[in-house]
Amino acid sequence: MNEHDSETMAGMMSEKGMIAEENRDDADIVIINTCSVRENADNRFFGTLGQLKKIKEKRPDFIACVCGCMMQQQHIIDEIKSKYPWVDLVFGTHNIHQFTELLDNVINERRKLVDVWESGGAIVEGLPTKRLYAFKALVNIMYGCNNFCTYCIVPYTRGRERSRRPEEIINEVKGLVATGAKEIVLLGQNVNSYGVSSHEGAYCAAEENGMDFADLIYTLNDMEGLERIRFMTSHPKDLSDKLIQAFADCDKLCNHIHLPVQSGSSEVLKRMNRKYTKEDYLLLIEKLRRAVPNMAITTDIIVGFPGETEEDFLETMDLIETVRYDSAFTFIYSIRKDTPAENFENQIPEDVKHERFNRLLKRINEISGEINKTYEDTVQQVLVEGPSKSGSDTYAGRTETSKLVNFDGSEELIGKIVSVRITEGKQFNLKGRQEI
Ligand code: 5AD
Ligand code: SF4
Repeated sequence: MNEHDSETMAGMMSEKGMIAEENRDDADIVIINTCSVRENADNRFFGTLGQLKKIKEKRPDFIACVCGCMMQQQHIIDEIKSKYPWVDLVFGTHNIHQFTELLDNVINERRKLVDVWESGGAIVEGLPTKRLYAFKALVNIMYGCNNFCTYCIVPYTRGRERSRRPEEIINEVKGLVATGAKEIVLLGQNVNSYGVSSHEGAYCAAEENGMDFADLIYTLNDMEGLERIRFMTSHPKDLSDKLIQAFADCDKLCNHIHLPVQSGSSEVLKRMNRKYTKEDYLLLIEKLRRAVPNMAITTDIIVGFPGETEEDFLETMDLIETVRYDSAFTFIYSIRKDTPAENFENQIPEDVKHERFNRLLKRINEISGEINKTYEDTVQQVLVEGPSKSGSDTYAGRTETSKLVNFDGSEELIGKIVSVRITEGKQFNLKGRQEI
């Protein structure tokens, strides 16, 4: 979500004739778009601010802007005002559409500006974006979250759920396909509740007798020129049978689902306010695998949530053995200010959290490697993204199941879908050879 907000701001700056600098130290304007989901991100922000201060001291005309989720919290704004008063512009997630106007004010009137809206108004359409890849695009279908998981800051920083109108989404995707997009990733904090909650200025399928999320997928699946559809993220409590059927029916919907479980313990899930049990989750996995046998499944897991016992943690270890995730993002629980879990008793000591985290990660990685091995000698369709990090003539792309493949390629393959025979399944990626 933040990445896509950054693309929007980059697009707005390009429209004003500004150009991106390779090196931060050479830029006239720097924007830090912050994430607040875990403490680590907060810390990195303050570290980066310290580095910007040095540029500001050397070049007083340099303009420092900060925005994103962290700015939606008053205590952060207060800290910036008191400790970093040299920051020129502070704005939030809800008024990104005003960014260039605010910037103009700062540039023309040579003044500092803090403008953070407490909540999101109507959805603003038609903002420009400067996309990282022409062939692969992020498309917001909704904003905000109504779920209030007890550990999570997002409902406070991104506001209530608001869905975009289907015709706006479809038109945006048509435009993207016309300019070379092969793959789109539909974005929302919980895409499964697209069009469900009514909110001022937002789309509600029930009121308009319109589309829910699965209907949107079926419609996009019929769009000529579009080749791959993905989405992120999906809350297990709202994953409908209709969407599971869409995986079986829609050839463009990639055989991969990111389905955050957070914990394998039903007790912990209850305190997290996730509204499903371990058994409910496993039933979903069973249904998904029945609908699409080679479905890749990935997840998010939090270790060390307040009150997590060794038995609770072993439930998570047991769950990963049953599901066998293709990969997982694993996180150590970090306290987020003003969320309910901040005040839960039995916060877990750091050493216990780390020990559990390491145990979990080791097994997650082993399973990833075992699954990747099963890809050996199969032929995969790979959307080529660009030169791989390992250099020389190696190119990297993604299979339909979202696995990273490195193979010997050439520049003209970028943005194309090519057949690659997998020669080696490694722990974190696949190696292959193009089949001509
Ligand atoms: N501590 C650790 N992980 C968190 N996440 C969200 N909030 C926290 C927190 N306070 C994780 C969840 C979520 C992912 C985006 O970040 O697993 O799915
Ligand atoms: Fe946070 Fe839960 Fe909303 Fe995801 S569904 S953004 S974890 S509150």
